[in-house]
Amino acid sequence: MQTIKTVAELRRALIEIRKAGKRVGFVPTMGYLHDGHLALIEASKAQSDVSVVSIFVNPTQFGPNEDLGTYPRDFLRDEKLCRDAGISILFAPDAKEIYPAQFQTFVEPSELAKPLCGAFRPGHFRGVATVVCKLFNMVQPDVAFFGQKDFQQCAVVRRMSVDLNLPIEIIIVPTVREADGLAMSSRNRYLNQQERERALAISRGLFAAAEQFNSGERDVERLLATVKQRLAAVDRLEYLDLVDSVNLKPAGNPLRTTAALCVAAYVGSTRLIDNMVLSLPA
Ligand code: PAF
Repeated sequence: MQTIKTVAELRRALIEIRKAGKRVGFVPTMGYLHDGHLALIEASKAQSDVSVVSIFVNPTQFGPNEDLGTYPRDFLRDEKLCRDAGISILFAPDAKEIYPAQFQTFVEPSELAKPLCGAFRPGHFRGVATVVCKLFNMVQPDVAFFGQKDFQQCAVVRRMSVDLNLPIEIIIVPTVREADGLAMSSRNRYLNQQERERALAISRGLFAAAEQFNSGERDVERLLATVKQRLAAVDRLEYLDLVDSVNLKPAGNPLRTTAALCVAAYVGSTRLIDNMVLSLPA
């Protein structure tokens, strides 16, 4: 595995790979890798000849009072995990490489960035879309992999790829969960034992609503009430919404198309997100 820090070096490393006609898979991450990231890496390895992982904690997607400074980092551990997983190239640029002096051009997602996390994290998806677009331009992958846990991010990236004619297939990989259901996230490490237990309310609520949905319930209010009841254990509910899975607008009642139950909640000072797709034929 090559660990590469600059765009120039990355381009050089990719020349031979491209000449050989190899299919390049790409997994963008912010590091502190867990089994969710490893599932993206496995998917990339299964669907491409060469896999590139990036590790970059992107400052433009953090708000002024968010956890950019304390975001968990362990580069040596991440590097070993990537090597052991059979990654060909680990791209780990520093902030100046991605945002050189005078940087001023951003990708601005529109409607899809407004609801859910977008309503509480102004500028977040602008930062995500910008860095993903830049990383796509640097790596020029054939296919890129994103985790379903970041449901709105997946929608924004898919839309951006279509809108900007990026010739990259976007694959969404199902959320990986701990044995008790908690969605894997680098931020889970902020939780103490008692908070970790209370955080389970989120996945339990979503699973309870999915069960109700699978038994035939289509009433939006009743499905939301099922989740809400479990969420009494969290410290602050930011949002709980049932949205159309494609345009992220509030789902029609009763449900007639595939929808996603999306939650963001604080447990202690940790903000957690999770979602559950309720699938119906289009
Ligand atoms: O999901 C993440 O880890 C980040 O938002 C991403 C896609 C790597 C962009 O910084």
